[in-house]
Amino acid sequence: MYKFSKDSKLNDPKFLFGVATASYQIEGATNVDERCPSIWDTFCATPGAVYKQHNGDVACNHYNLYQQDVDLISSLGVDAYRFSIAWPRIIRADGSVNQKGLDFYDRLITSLEEKNITIMATLYHWDLPQYLEDKGGWLNRETSTKFAEYVEVVSSYFGNRIDFYVTLNEPWCSAYHGYRYGIHAPGIADEKSGFLACHNLLLAHGLAMPILRKNADNSKHGIVLNFTPNYPVDDSSIEAAKFADDEHTHWFIKPLMEGNYPESVYQHFIDFMPQIEKNDMAIISEEIDFLGVNFYSRSMVTSDRQGKVSDTILKKLERAEIRILNSDDVADNDTKAEQLQKLMNQKDSHYLSVELQEVERTHIGWEVHPEALLKLLTDLHQTYKLPPIYITENGAAVDDHVIDGVVDDEQRYRYYQNHLSMVDQAIKKGVDVRGYFAWSLMDNFEWAEGYRMRFGIVYVDYETQKRTLKQSAIKFQEFLSARKQGLLG
Ligand code: FCB
Repeated sequence: MYKFSKDSKLNDPKFLFGVATASYQIEGATNVDERCPSIWDTFCATPGAVYKQHNGDVACNHYNLYQQDVDLISSLGVDAYRFSIAWPRIIRADGSVNQKGLDFYDRLITSLEEKNITIMATLYHWDLPQYLEDKGGWLNRETSTKFAEYVEVVSSYFGNRIDFYVTLNEPWCSAYHGYRYGIHAPGIADEKSGFLACHNLLLAHGLAMPILRKNADNSKHGIVLNFTPNYPVDDSSIEAAKFADDEHTHWFIKPLMEGNYPESVYQHFIDFMPQIEKNDMAIISEEIDFLGVNFYSRSMVTSDRQGKVSDTILKKLERAEIRILNSDDVADNDTKAEQLQKLMNQKDSHYLSVELQEVERTHIGWEVHPEALLKLLTDLHQTYKLPPIYITENGAAVDDHVIDGVVDDEQRYRYYQNHLSMVDQAIKKGVDVRGYFAWSLMDNFEWAEGYRMRFGIVYVDYETQKRTLKQSAIKFQEFLSARKQGLLG
């Protein structure tokens, strides 16, 4: 089982342990009970967008198997479950409320309540209704208002039954992957669009906050950001890494905490900046009760523009290739590396993301570097006046196989042990971390990577929908059961 020092906060039952999922990645049942199409349905149907054109039509069939999955969650002994609510199930194109969608989450929440599981619900985990994308999606400021209306419906219906409301999951991914780099839905690759989507997403978050407070006054309300801290490859790249952090980390957290965007990035990309209305930054920086931190890996940065481009990013690009070749500013005869350079470091950006050789990586290619989690948490703690933190996602993709009924995911449980130890250390250094959610409860649709990347602590056989606990899950079970019995600490 996972082990921490005797005086570790993680041994205290007050520290929340949970597992996480997201609607489009697990639910399936995309065509039932009047669910509207989402941008991910459209994106998956676009040739070249997703690995082998996989899609979320069936996924883990959680929509039908939710009761079994809640039993599974309960059997793990975790305290909490983080899932997301699918906007396309709740609001129809004409703005009316789809009761059948609310009923599904009502059934799910009731089952969780019966098992005494703390509920964290994400209101937006990337599945934007396609009817809103047809009107510009996150490039249209009105989508932020539509989000607030949807949040009003959900939070007035469920109120305090949801313990933690998360407005958005990883606006970085929605904005940059979706509208700037074009590798996630809706597949737009354009600098200006990326920054505009970002602003409208943050605005949506801010508009939702007072609504959540009004409708669920006993619940906690916050947002989940993803962090991939940038490290310089050498001394000459320190400034470049700092800039990369401004662009990818502080661009999201600074407006939330301090009500303004980092000046360095604002000036550098001045031609691509969105129109900021008078009250926007006050709305965006509305106080939050907690910050959700998603962490997987770090990124290496060089100021040398001739450096070798990261293979991970190149791999992603293979599927974005069609769109890149179609876009006007990329010539057909460019090499992939050149295309990437144009896409990722468009215009006159002055750094490059590179890959270190001979470091441990997970199946998806992300470097394993637990120390970066500790550094991230202590850096954020020093830089901002933060609310309590929950690690809302952390985990590893492993090329898992069931052998004689066993999935020995050694790399994953080592990953969990080492990252949890960093959380422990961060707490000891004064960072207020109150909980940790493993990504993910079970294998699921990993966006552009389809089903080939397995992040679950539970194995899913997609042919039979059979769930099998991996060793990493069994170690959670053992640890949580010992903790419950008061055998630790
Ligand atoms: C995060 C997403 C989550 C999952 C993990 C691996 O960026 O929030 O849905 O795909 O990555």
